[in-house]
Amino acid sequence: MDRLGLDPGKETPGRKVVRHAGQSLVRTIQMAKQSGIPGAAQLVAAECIVMAETKDHANRELIGQLSKEMTGERAEALREAYDQAEEQEDRHLYHTMGWARELWLDFLGLPAVLPRPEEEQEVTTMKEAAEAKESRGKRAGKGRTGTKSRGARQRKSAA
Ligand SMILES: [Fe+2]
Repeated sequence: MDRLGLDPGKETPGRKVVRHAGQSLVRTIQMAKQSGIPGAAQLVAAECIVMAETKDHANRELIGQLSKEMTGERAEALREAYDQAEEQEDRHLYHTMGWARELWLDFLGLPAVLPRPEEEQEVTTMKEAAEAKESRGKRAGKGRTGTKSRGARQRKSAA
């Protein structure tokens, strides 16, 4: 922000929108927790994180595009930020997507693979994420959850 000549402490309309969206995600998780449905808070939290990470991923792409259109020190600052965040942002998105997918399968009473394949395969690219997702079919039902999912067991015992 300093290298771009921007004040990181300045309150802007865009920051207010982002703050509101973030607080809404937290409120969404709280609502799921208050529902009392076993596993719901974790499932909704995973979905909220996927939404946030999707926006992180998109923002990073925008920073990369912007850096190509600019010149000089500001372009260099953006390019460095873009490169610096590549692996971590890709990892955040693909891992949370995998986590949400397996939690949903578990919640629906279907065989889930936990820990998720993305974690065990150290996924950092979209291609690796697709391969991890593909590999889960071979492992589904053989993992920690066995033939009956944890979510299904919890819901049955809560009923
Ligand atoms: Fe992220």
